[in-house]
Amino acid sequence: RGKRAFIAGVADDNGYGWAIAKALAAAGAEILVGTWVPALNIFESSLRRGKFDESRVLPDGSLMEITKVYPLDAVFDNLEDVPEDVKTNKRYSGSSKWTVQEVAESVKQDFGSIDILVHSLANGPEVSKPLLETSRNGYLAAISASSYSYVSLLKHFVPIMNPGGASISLTYIASERIIPGYGGGMSSAKAALESDTRVLAFEAGRKHKIRVNTISAGPLRSRAAKAIGFIDMMIDYSLENAPLQKELTAEEVGNAAAFLASPLASAITGAVVYVDNGLNAMGVGV
Ligand code: NAI
Repeated sequence: RGKRAFIAGVADDNGYGWAIAKALAAAGAEILVGTWVPALNIFESSLRRGKFDESRVLPDGSLMEITKVYPLDAVFDNLEDVPEDVKTNKRYSGSSKWTVQEVAESVKQDFGSIDILVHSLANGPEVSKPLLETSRNGYLAAISASSYSYVSLLKHFVPIMNPGGASISLTYIASERIIPGYGGGMSSAKAALESDTRVLAFEAGRKHKIRVNTISAGPLRSRAAKAIGFIDMMIDYSLENAPLQKELTAEEVGNAAAFLASPLASAITGAVVYVDNGLNAMGVGV
């Protein structure tokens, strides 16, 4: 039987989530995605209207099929968590069962189990503010959307993951080195995500034989990255300073994710794997 993957954090064809979905589809996996509720309508209608058909092309010429798109808001674990103003918000009231627990239940009902869980989402409302100017709410929101969202996803999906399965998230070097401009507690959120990768690797490995790794990716001009505002500068900096002087493609990160999710990586867990043209290894710009 082919493997089944759930990829949380796909809302267009520009980001890492889409590229990971493609690499997994090319390797024969069945693809389910979780799309942020406010972005769901545009994503689904664009898919239907064929707007992504060019980027759906796989190496063998066929088109990636997304078996099902689930609405998801990963800052809410279950219905009791959802405040009234969100419940009645027009963009949310049109969909249902989008809390983490409900999505996991729906996937279980629809398909029984999955083999691969991918977390490719982050959000920090104050990302453009320096940490020194970040509010408590902004900091906690960044951690909630970008770090706890992963703990919650894994917690709710582990019971329906087949033993031998794998889970992957996306992190950024700002967790361990100073990257001015990556503010609002997002650097803190990525540090938490990386630490959690180790602890979750232990817990999910011992209990369910599931591997947990994170990819520390180089800069990509995704929708989320453009919103931060310094992505072109980071891409130029990498081109100038990294050991490999080429622009990083989302496909390269997708391929690394497919490797980490496959039996080729059967002894790799709890790892931060750099897919960044080697920039992390530099001590000084040249
Ligand atoms: P993206 O915009 O393609 O992906 C972010 C996704 O998160 C979007 O689809 C958005 O709708 C979704 N999202 C936001 N809040 C959500 C919530 N509460 N519930 C569910 N979904 C939510 O951008 P990108 O850059 O591909 O981001 C994917 C991951 O890669 C993130 O973890 C990001 O931090 C990481 N990353 C990105 C880098 C870059 O330069 N683009 C570099 C290193 C890591």
